[in-house]
Amino acid sequence: MDYKNFSDISFIEKGINDLEKLTEQNKPYTRLVFSKEFYAGRDWLTKQFELLELETSVDEAGNLVGLLKSNIKTNELVIIGSHIDTVPSGGRYDGIAGIISALNVIKYIRENKIDLPYNIAIYDYLGEELNDWGISCLGSRGIAGLLNEDIFLRTDIMGRVLGEEINKVGGRSKLLKSPLPIVKDIIACLELHIEQGKVLENDEIEIGVVRSIPSISRHLVSISGQAGHSGTVLMNQRSDSLVLASKLIIFINEVALKLSQESNQHFVATVGKINVHPNSAAIIPGFVDLTIDLRAVSNSSRNEFLEAIKNKIISLNEMNEHEVSITDLAFAPYIEMDKKLISSFLKSCDYFGFSKKIMDSGAGHDTAQLARVVPSAMIFIPCENGFSHCPEEFAKLSDIAKGTAVLVKLILDLAKL
Ligand code: GLV
Ligand code: MN
Ligand code: MN
Repeated sequence: MDYKNFSDISFIEKGINDLEKLTEQNKPYTRLVFSKEFYAGRDWLTKQFELLELETSVDEAGNLVGLLKSNIKTNELVIIGSHIDTVPSGGRYDGIAGIISALNVIKYIRENKIDLPYNIAIYDYLGEELNDWGISCLGSRGIAGLLNEDIFLRTDIMGRVLGEEINKVGGRSKLLKSPLPIVKDIIACLELHIEQGKVLENDEIEIGVVRSIPSISRHLVSISGQAGHSGTVLMNQRSDSLVLASKLIIFINEVALKLSQESNQHFVATVGKINVHPNSAAIIPGFVDLTIDLRAVSNSSRNEFLEAIKNKIISLNEMNEHEVSITDLAFAPYIEMDKKLISSFLKSCDYFGFSKKIMDSGAGHDTAQLARVVPSAMIFIPCENGFSHCPEEFAKLSDIAKGTAVLVKLILDLAKL
């Protein structure tokens, strides 16, 4: 079957082009959660929901929802979701491809006047990307009941309180103590995403069907030294927190490299964010904090890594020149996708004659949070050179259209199950 009968390349192209304009202009492509560009993106998406005559709402977790109700009376719900927010200087496809593809699925259902025996909704999950509050996947964690008051009370560098920002978007953070009631109605949670790696491209595969998503945790390391005059404090009399942070970053990298080689399973750790205080060329850095982003399939490698870092911190503290501490910011466990949905996705690929591969994700996704409470599955499409979280990120429109066709077919097949 020709996939072009199930998806519309020019519709996909227009969606990508529209959203790429809604960026911080001097820093493409940046649409950080709660920023004015993010709100503009949500306005754009609300408009698309209206054009498709969907019932639009914002749920308790701040997710933007476009609902297409079945003609029969049912509570059963299929959700197709992804996210319109980006990392700073990110790409035009991460999350966005999934949202546009979901719109295209509904467009297909509308144009072909298909009656589904379940309700179907597009979810723009709130704040999938890691933010300055140290927690990603806000909206999907909210649905799954994985947020709490401590998280809502966190403030960012501008003093914004996370719970208040969620409420401004239309969420109700007070109601997010346990999984949302809607969870009991969800029969499938689906997502199309760019792979963000090179596996599909290297193997010349059209569709990746995701088997698992690694555990992801983030940890804040704070290092206090002594600020001082860069011209007068002699080299052997300093406690420079940035110098110590640099040594620690190298240590983190070495431990992660060793564990990734030993464990034969996906294991990566990154320090991608560091704050230096007071961050001035003429002052010895007095205080540094850095975030470790840790992803692992194996629990034992994860524990071994954290133990090595904690022991290192103990030995640094024993030297008495700095104070070093580590705090956990967020955790999501290793998760496997729903086996039945995986095999339905594989069958949908066969229907179009697409080459396919079952694969593990390196990146985190909202669907990993939902998979903790409802049957969930994802497909990946190739992205050029595996570039992602950078402006060079690129996916072919035809590849998004192929993935969209696979989603449509799965949605139609679910109706027969
Ligand atoms: C999501 O983009 C992640 O950080 O994996
Ligand atoms: Mn994403
Ligand atoms: Mn991302």
